[in-house]
Amino acid sequence: MLFEIKNLVVHYEGAEVVKGISLEVDEGEVVTLIGSNGAGKTTTLRVISGLKSPTSGEIWFQGQRIDRQTPQSVVKVGIIHVPQSREIFPYMSVLENLRLGAFLRKDKDNVKKDLENLLENFPRLKQRSRQQAGTLSGGEQQILAIACALMANSKLLLLDEPSCGLSPIMVQEIGKIISDINRQRSTSILLIEQNVRLALKLAHRGYVLETGKIVLQGTAEELTRSEHIKKAYLGG
Ligand SMILES: Nc1ncnc2c1ncn2[C@@H]1O[C@H](COP(=O)(O)OP(=O)(O)O)[C@@H](O)[C@H]1O
Ligand SMILES: [Mg+2]
Repeated sequence: MLFEIKNLVVHYEGAEVVKGISLEVDEGEVVTLIGSNGAGKTTTLRVISGLKSPTSGEIWFQGQRIDRQTPQSVVKVGIIHVPQSREIFPYMSVLENLRLGAFLRKDKDNVKKDLENLLENFPRLKQRSRQQAGTLSGGEQQILAIACALMANSKLLLLDEPSCGLSPIMVQEIGKIISDINRQRSTSILLIEQNVRLALKLAHRGYVLETGKIVLQGTAEELTRSEHIKKAYLGG
């Protein structure tokens, strides 16, 4: 198994917000974590990427225990978190942002090649490569944030609501980018989405998180057929 969370418990100011969850992401899989606002999805990602300490539980990546490591060492093992806030550097150009995405890599020769390839795959970014990142549209900034994560050459991408706040056309484009990344690079993805329809279209498997507990899990097909999912997340 590429990635595994075992019995993760997380508190914020004495309140238990993640209540003993376990989940797995295999090599090449897109796995979605579905849940309403406040369910504990972002908290789970923050713990994985070392931004928040868990109360108990274990996180394993490629046979190595990675809970309680610094965010930098989590990046180094190959896990990149694209937060919902799309943390790009607004006053730097698109190109500079992409180069910064690779700053922890040692293989500088490959970085240049990867950057060229990436720009071919992301024509929107290529057209705007000299533009200040902060002047891009919301959707373009999301694409840039994902592209920066790809420049880090990660094995597991953690995406926190990538479609949030985007127009229907950009939601489609982001969806296509996510599935292309998974197919072409065989990058594994843990995808958080409130757009459950999109999440189940992109994912192979999924987990449903409700007030800190996983209440349902299965293949995307099983979840799409589930009465609970239909009622609670797909509007009947
Ligand atoms: N920095 C924080 N301090 C205190 N409570 C927090 C903090 N971040 C999140 N929480 C609480 O933790 C719970 C889970 O939040 P979160 O993980 O952001 O949910 P989701 O991403 O599923 O919407 C919520 O009740 C939220 O209010
Ligand atoms: Mg969240």
